[in-house]
Amino acid sequence: MAGSTKNARGVKTIGILTSGGDCPGLNAVIRALVRAVAHSDVEVFGFLEGFTGLVENRFLKLTDADCSGLLTVGGTILRTSRNKPNKMPAPDGSVRDMTGAAIETYRRLNLDCLICLGGGGTQKSAFHLMNEGGIHVITVPKTIDNDVFGTDVCFGFDTGMTIGAEAIDRLHTTASSHHRVMIVDVMGHNTGWLALGSGVASGADVILIPEIPYSPNVVAESLLERMRHGKKFSIVVVAEGATAAPDAPPRKRGVRMPKEKETKTVQPKSATLAEYLHQATGLETRITSLGYLQRGGIPTPTDRVLCTAFGAKAAELALARRFGNMVAKRGEEFVPVPLKEIAGKKRMVPLDHPLIMAARAVNTCLGDHV
Ligand code: F6P
Repeated sequence: MAGSTKNARGVKTIGILTSGGDCPGLNAVIRALVRAVAHSDVEVFGFLEGFTGLVENRFLKLTDADCSGLLTVGGTILRTSRNKPNKMPAPDGSVRDMTGAAIETYRRLNLDCLICLGGGGTQKSAFHLMNEGGIHVITVPKTIDNDVFGTDVCFGFDTGMTIGAEAIDRLHTTASSHHRVMIVDVMGHNTGWLALGSGVASGADVILIPEIPYSPNVVAESLLERMRHGKKFSIVVVAEGATAAPDAPPRKRGVRMPKEKETKTVQPKSATLAEYLHQATGLETRITSLGYLQRGGIPTPTDRVLCTAFGAKAAELALARRFGNMVAKRGEEFVPVPLKEIAGKKRMVPLDHPLIMAARAVNTCLGDHV
């Protein structure tokens, strides 16, 4: 792709980067973007390792040919990092504001636009570059957590949910064969979309999410209630950010529940909950942490379709010079949403969300009542 003459709207050079945790569908969006501008005589630079590549002027030139076969490839060919332009780790261990270096790279390469694929942190960083350096940004919402504000859905979520559901389906076998309580730790950061989606899709008996603080007693009681109905096994899905209610009634046998700070990514809290449920029900309990499995590997067909539409829309906005926007899915439409309306916000599961209502309707315990 030569990129020698400007296209009709004057866009000649576009930068792309992938930032935050890796996620199924990043490559599918890159492919869609590159292909969608391929006939507009636009040159595409892919920055390596997120904003780090922008700061350090490290990039690949991406052509249509480079994108062959990318639709189904997991991870990101550009690699990624959680580094932010204004909080960039330095070799001496300190953290520096490198916003100026990021702006300099953008200007030196004569970019017309920078397209950032990422989650909530990425939306904030892109907004920061737009405000501080006048960089023309467009963003695409990525994350298995599905928590980016302003869009109905993020790419990667469907794959994460599908992997979660398939894993829980398999855990059902051991749960029922051994009459066990299987506790499944699911990612999702501080929101419950992934746990709720994976749990409902796999018929989990208990789903604990951050939006609904749970009572360990209620969870135990729901398992005992299942036993009274002859069901001697249960599946308990625990979202990464789920917490026990501060006013949860005292537990029966004094098992200590974890403190908030203990609940990073791999959850020791489940061990405490498992021990408590074992004591309260007499059932054997086992824990499985799905962890990074949920964001690995190939995207589902649903995500591939979503990524292609997201990438195509981002390219359309770039060519139309409609900068300062995130591409959002709203209903069936893909629309630009101003970054100033969404940066710094998080999309929690509303307590009256249809999925919560559906879970309750089929007697799934959400930890607040049996
Ligand atoms: O945002 C995706 C996610 O996998 C979250 O579910 C989880 O909290 C976090 O990333 C883990 O981050 P890291 O890759 O930095 O351990």
